[in-house]
Amino acid sequence: MSDLEALKKEAALRAVALVQSGQRVGLGTGSTAKYAIEELGRLLQTGELQGIVGVATSKASAELAREVGVPVEDLDPRPLDIAIDGADEIAPNLDLVKGLGGALLREKLTEVQARRLIIIADHTKLVKQLGEKAPLPIEIAQFGFLSTIERLREFLPGGRLRMVGAGNFVTDNGNYIYDAQLPEQFDPAELERRIKSTLGVVDTGLFLGMAERAFVAAPDGVQELE
Ligand code: 5RP
Repeated sequence: MSDLEALKKEAALRAVALVQSGQRVGLGTGSTAKYAIEELGRLLQTGELQGIVGVATSKASAELAREVGVPVEDLDPRPLDIAIDGADEIAPNLDLVKGLGGALLREKLTEVQARRLIIIADHTKLVKQLGEKAPLPIEIAQFGFLSTIERLREFLPGGRLRMVGAGNFVTDNGNYIYDAQLPEQFDPAELERRIKSTLGVVDTGLFLGMAERAFVAAPDGVQELE
């Protein structure tokens, strides 16, 4: 395991330590969340945790959870006790950019219902301002996507439709993703409002005011941010 992977795993284990038996747990998506799901499976196997139920934020995470023995249920209106997920960018106030893994809609739908959203990441995800390192993923309907992109480009020029191989990337919900370049200066809440009011947009990877804390692993240890 590379040093960076070891850091991601360390952050994940710190977050999983917050999970208690009997809880309903939002299962994130991505290479860091994977370590959390595996650890939940291990703790269920050893009996250190009992009776937890996972609500997965992607088909891939649901599959992994089942593989490692974490029971999975669909999202329903009941609150989740806790959700653990990675992020692509973490601002000092814990606002996030998420969705480079393509799961932003299910992540937001799930995590908005969590009493606690715990973010796990390595130190490369820390930024002073969102948009510094990563584009902002925006999930858009397939139907009329070129028109939607034109509307988005009026205020977010420079983005691109996400591709995989020779084809367009398709989310678990059957939508496309436009990866937008964020401007140098912007008000995240105002930008979120403007993007979401654009016809054809399903949701954005801006997760504002949602995370309770983040475990961020660096070579000199895991930092806990609140
Ligand atoms: C998926 C996500 C992931 O949480 C995000 O991309 C971080 O992934 P990784 O832990 O692999 O860096 O938002 O939609």
